[in-house]
Amino acid sequence: MLLHDESTEAVVAREKSFVLGTYNRTQFHPRSGKGARLFDAAGKAYWDLLGGIAVNVLGHQHPRIKRVLREEATSLLHVSNLYYHPAQGILAEKLVRASGLCRAFFCNSGTEANEAAIKFARLANPGRSHLVALQESFHGRTAGALSLTGHEAYRTPFAPLVPNVTFVEPNDIAALEAAVTTETSAIFLEPVMGEGGIIPLSDEFLIAARRVADKTGAILVFDEIQCGLGRLGTLFAFQRSGVVPDIVTLAKPLGGGLPLGAVLTGPALEGMVKPGHHGTTFGGNPLACRLGYEVVVETEKLLGKINETGEWFEAELRKLACDNIVAIRGKGLMWGIELDRPAGPVAAQLLERGFVVGTAREKVIRLLPPYIVPKQALKEFIAALSEVLTVIPSVARDLGVKGAGEPAFVPPISTTTSFHEGASK
Ligand SMILES: Cc1ncc(COP(=O)(O)O)c(C=O)c1O
Repeated sequence: MLLHDESTEAVVAREKSFVLGTYNRTQFHPRSGKGARLFDAAGKAYWDLLGGIAVNVLGHQHPRIKRVLREEATSLLHVSNLYYHPAQGILAEKLVRASGLCRAFFCNSGTEANEAAIKFARLANPGRSHLVALQESFHGRTAGALSLTGHEAYRTPFAPLVPNVTFVEPNDIAALEAAVTTETSAIFLEPVMGEGGIIPLSDEFLIAARRVADKTGAILVFDEIQCGLGRLGTLFAFQRSGVVPDIVTLAKPLGGGLPLGAVLTGPALEGMVKPGHHGTTFGGNPLACRLGYEVVVETEKLLGKINETGEWFEAELRKLACDNIVAIRGKGLMWGIELDRPAGPVAAQLLERGFVVGTAREKVIRLLPPYIVPKQALKEFIAALSEVLTVIPSVARDLGVKGAGEPAFVPPISTTTSFHEGASK
């Protein structure tokens, strides 16, 4: 084993020997980036239309991020939550003022944010353990968040999980009303479902969720980990519908590329969470919070561009006369293109042509580009997609079929992990 050989072959070999195999990685070796561009180990350029799965919203090497990293290099990299540091309060104030909610708790990831939300809802509703979530939802990998994730393939290997969860169909108001009772502690919703295939929840459904939560006392939680922080053209996804939840969970882009999650709590949680109820060693890391502040400030400036680019992109995409596209769903810079075939092989073809895209479920190409993405990148993507789907449909179709209809290979840039993509088929 060559310990310091960083050739792509050596990197793969070392990982195969020493890293636990939770990821079925794509043969792609990004090494640097600038703006919306990524460069692989051989120096080949790609348009980054996935942004590290909705993380790198300011693109790569953003000057503000670089400045903060330089400034903070001589500061404390970690401060225990036993003590005060200004960074958490500054970011919390920014998020609270922008959302109209009351307080922020900081953790390290999306799943931890949802885990904390489950606990906080329990505190607001002592003795009530029932939870309601949506089929095909995704809320994370830890035991509580996984229990709320509405996709059997993720949950089955780990059953039994946290009991007493009811899953309802997205946008089925009657099913939601039937599921939520005075025993329900919380309702978890993604305003636009990401891993589920970019499924927007209707305003009517969100309004009904607020109504039924008010009627029963259930805490309404919006998981905005993937669809929030500017992605839909408003800083918070809930600001599109105007339906204000009791809790918002955030992560992905918040730390500017460093791990940072947050739980924003509204009036229903005031006074419920007391010292000792929850905590974390690393959550609210000063550097991540400093970066988080920059991310929010810069994102606010980009909201107009996100809306404008999103509307333009949708119009351009819909011009694509291509009967291989079954549906186009999304808003702002969160798009799902549902195909009539497995999306993985199509994404692989796009990667070869210099476009990093994601997939969701079996047949959806998922785009979560940085907010600074130029229209040129999206224009070139549409041309490449059109070519992959129509000029060489047989190639794409053949790649998607092995023997009796099994995908020939796992989806590239699997946005959750392809272990589960495989398990879901
Ligand atoms: C909507 C949503 N919630 C929660 C999570 C889990 O976040 P993390 O991977 O940071 O734990 C994800 C991750 O993809 C997500 O998309």
